[in-house]
Amino acid sequence: MPCGMRAQEPSIVILTGAGISAESGLPTFRDKDGLWEGQRVEDVACPQAFARDPERVQRFYNLRRAALRTVEPNAAHLALARLQQAWPGRVTLVTQNVDDLHERAGSTAVTHMHGELQMVRCDFCGHRMEWLDELHTTTVCPVCLRSRGLRPDIVWFGEIPFHMDLIQDAVEASTLFVAIGTSGQVYPAAGLVQVARAVGAATLEINNAQTAVSGCFDHHRIGPASVEVPRWVEGLLAG
Ligand code: OAD
Repeated sequence: MPCGMRAQEPSIVILTGAGISAESGLPTFRDKDGLWEGQRVEDVACPQAFARDPERVQRFYNLRRAALRTVEPNAAHLALARLQQAWPGRVTLVTQNVDDLHERAGSTAVTHMHGELQMVRCDFCGHRMEWLDELHTTTVCPVCLRSRGLRPDIVWFGEIPFHMDLIQDAVEASTLFVAIGTSGQVYPAAGLVQVARAVGAATLEINNAQTAVSGCFDHHRIGPASVEVPRWVEGLLAG
């Protein structure tokens, strides 16, 4: 497409955060009773923590991985899957969540910018694989046969999020950018709304509260994701 021209088909980018999975029973990070309340990020979610106390870090993520087996997608996840199937233009679904609820709701091509709980990788040989069970420092990598290298394939603080080129390109080509259930406190995800504004896309925030970046959005829907997301999707599909 020549520089400056925009695609004819409306192109939507959706960024989801922990708030979309809250009503499924997965705690958010920063709300009351969130994962970071009573837990220091520096103790569980950064490379230094893993070097200092790997078993503690593995325990934290083992619990998160096990929790996935106790929850189901909610109406918000299902509505986004329906939108992906029914919308005539492109819908790029980007999530900061490491759960698999979008996939289980039927979404395809979910871009996990902060990684996935059910994937692990070996720090020694770089091998990535699906992992549904517990991980311990004694767990041996099936490829290089070394222990102490396998870690959750999750982006920790101080690490670079995954798929940033793909995400940047999608937002730059978007006509509508929607952020759902994210507090706007973690970059670069929190800065994507500014990228969308810069290319003239409309912007919508769906959240049950004001966020650090609410002022950057043109439109707001305030309320639980399980109610507001299906309403928004139905309205959009009805034209
Ligand atoms: P946060 O816990 O920071 O924010 C959750 C947001 O969801 C808040 O703005 C809430 O108001 C909102 N919320 C909660 N329940 C909701 C509901 N039922 N309906 C609608 N909104 C609701 O979670 P994230 O913004 O996703 O990164 O956090 C971003 C990143 O910080 C995470 O991916 C994680 C964390 O550190 C890593 O671990 C790398």
